[in-house]
Amino acid sequence: MSRTILVTGGATGIGLAVARRFAAQGDAVTVTGRRPAPLEKAAEETGARAVVCDHTDPAALDRLLAELPASVDVLVNNAGGNTDLDAAPDGGLASYAAAFRANLDANLLTAALTTKAVEDRLAPGGAVVHIGSIAAARGAGSLGAYGAAKAGLGTWNLDLADVLGPRGITANVVSPGYVEDTEFFRDRLSDERRAGLVDATATGRAGRPDDIAAAVVFLASEGARHITGQVLEVNGGAYKTR
Ligand SMILES: NC(=O)c1ccc[n+]([C@@H]2O[C@H](COP(=O)([O-])OP(=O)(O)OC[C@H]3O[C@@H](n4cnc5c(N)ncnc54)[C@H](OP(=O)(O)O)[C@@H]3O)[C@@H](O)[C@H]2O)c1
Repeated sequence: MSRTILVTGGATGIGLAVARRFAAQGDAVTVTGRRPAPLEKAAEETGARAVVCDHTDPAALDRLLAELPASVDVLVNNAGGNTDLDAAPDGGLASYAAAFRANLDANLLTAALTTKAVEDRLAPGGAVVHIGSIAAARGAGSLGAYGAAKAGLGTWNLDLADVLGPRGITANVVSPGYVEDTEFFRDRLSDERRAGLVDATATGRAGRPDDIAAAVVFLASEGARHITGQVLEVNGGAYKTR
């Protein structure tokens, strides 16, 4: 049976791989993002509906609601990234505060606002899956807020799982390690740093967007109806749990 899926930030990288997987199952997918050009390309390739939306902006989310179906089976809160890679703080406290807030907005507020926006439309038997990061457990290697924002997402999800559970809706985080073929690093990942990230895995390779997409599709599937309030680490063993 075809389901309705919303993938935020679905035009590139991990979000695009998620959109591809759901579309290949015959689901009706909506992808969002701030830039129209990659969205149009993703829509053309996958058959998804594309809607321009900045998920930090409540008014933009109100407009998005008008474009969405009355019932949403799966919400994938994927939009995000380390905003410090776009604009490093210049050293002053005001700029540090702005950069800190930008990461919280991009990675934590986006997911919370989007979930609140579609909460009443989430269908029984549905799923919310957020894309976290290995940085939530390991830190992000700087005093920026990226790792803290992703960790906060996991904590916020604990309450979300309790709120949605009685309606038969699950809420989980898929937490990737290093994933190549995305726009995350903005072409600024050195060969040395990349080699270090691959060396840190037990599998000896970088993650691929489809590794993450497969985990998302599983958490939204019939076989995962009793899995909620969890963080699923997908990192080739770069960060292990027990
Ligand atoms: N790649 C990795 O190694 C890695 C590792 C751990 C976690 N992650 C997480 O995986 C998720 C996907 O990132 P990616 O690796 O696939 O990188 P990506 O290719 O840069 O994808 C991020 C997508 O999110 C969209 N986006 C960002 N902020 C948005 C906003 N405010 N509103 C709407 N859309 C927004 C971007 O499009 P626009 O710029 O057009 O809005 C872009 O399409 C992110 O949450 C990231 O933190 C990635």
